[in-house]
Amino acid sequence: MPPGTPSAGGGGIAKPLPPQWFLRHGGNAEMRWDTLAGTGLHTPNERFFVRNHTRTPRIDQETWRLRVHGSGLRGPGAVFSLAELRALPAVTLDAVLECAGNGRRYWSEQQGTPAPGTAWGLGGVGMAAWRGVPLGELLERAGLGPAAVDVLPGGLDPEYRAAGRNLGRVRRPLPIGKALDDVLVAYEMNGQPLPPDHGGPARLVVPGWVGVASIKWLGSVEVADRPLESPWTTAYYRLFGPGQPAGGGPALTRQTVKSAFELAPGAVLAAGRTHRLRGRSWSGAAAVRAVEVSTDGGRDWYPAELLDPPSRYGWRRWAVDWRPAEPGRYGLRARATDLLGRTQPAEAPFNREGYLFDAVVVHPVTVV
Ligand code: MTE
Repeated sequence: MPPGTPSAGGGGIAKPLPPQWFLRHGGNAEMRWDTLAGTGLHTPNERFFVRNHTRTPRIDQETWRLRVHGSGLRGPGAVFSLAELRALPAVTLDAVLECAGNGRRYWSEQQGTPAPGTAWGLGGVGMAAWRGVPLGELLERAGLGPAAVDVLPGGLDPEYRAAGRNLGRVRRPLPIGKALDDVLVAYEMNGQPLPPDHGGPARLVVPGWVGVASIKWLGSVEVADRPLESPWTTAYYRLFGPGQPAGGGPALTRQTVKSAFELAPGAVLAAGRTHRLRGRSWSGAAAVRAVEVSTDGGRDWYPAELLDPPSRYGWRRWAVDWRPAEPGRYGLRARATDLLGRTQPAEAPFNREGYLFDAVVVHPVTVV
């Protein structure tokens, strides 16, 4: 079968995409928050959102190799097979993976400033236990030199074409400081071999950063003694618009703070009964410290009960009881704050591409 042949899920995604679990956006699949309740802290692999620039390639694990090369190394570099990766000391890390465009539809729905691109609700996010080798370990083994400045991980999926131009394979540079800090070359997701749609046999996991940094189907890592760029740091994944420099802001790095209810938009709840409202909150910069919920349009806020310990890169589940007395339409709000004091604003500052929507999302429910 040729690489990327669509199978069960269609649209270039290999896994099945049952409509009760996913909302489809072309070749991307958004996780539905309302059916997440009871699935545990980690997003099950079969329910994890998929964001592909082209399509999921088929890669033979036996012949797959990761090549580390470039001017920032002392010698010719190194090539690793999957068996060699698996033989190295491994670490497991809970980390949220979130698309920079997650929540994009709320720019138009909530703030009246529509943004182009995939209109994700809040389901362009998931949290997994990633197991693999620290990227720094591989760079050291490949002969990392003192002059290294940037690394450029590249994917093995088909070349990406946009507006009539071939931009080449998906690749996005990282500064050497981040690469050596906490980045993983992951080959397992929630205890399973990394599934094809999520980058198998191996992907980068760049904790806390916008999802595009976590290059799937990793085939090469260039280590350079000079700053590197790619269309994913120059044309895409930067902020353009008011408050940004004329040519655009710096390449996006850390994710913002967000919260979501495990509830369908427009859910119907009975008046005069106590409902346990559940959700999850996360931040790219630090563990979530507190979550507050408002059921009266943002006038009063009540602390939610946090159900998991703080996690540097993971999310925290929470719950709050609500007993609506009167039938009617309500807008539920959840607002998280992280350990660095970053909190969700009532309104997100505009940017042209609609990245990093971090405002409190109004979740409509009907009480009958
Ligand atoms: N890596 C490659 N090689 N190709 C891609 O299309 N998409 C990126 C990133 N890594 C992408 C990639 C984007 S934009 C996101 S948000 C995440 O992968 C999505 O990861 P997931 O599909 O495992 O959820």
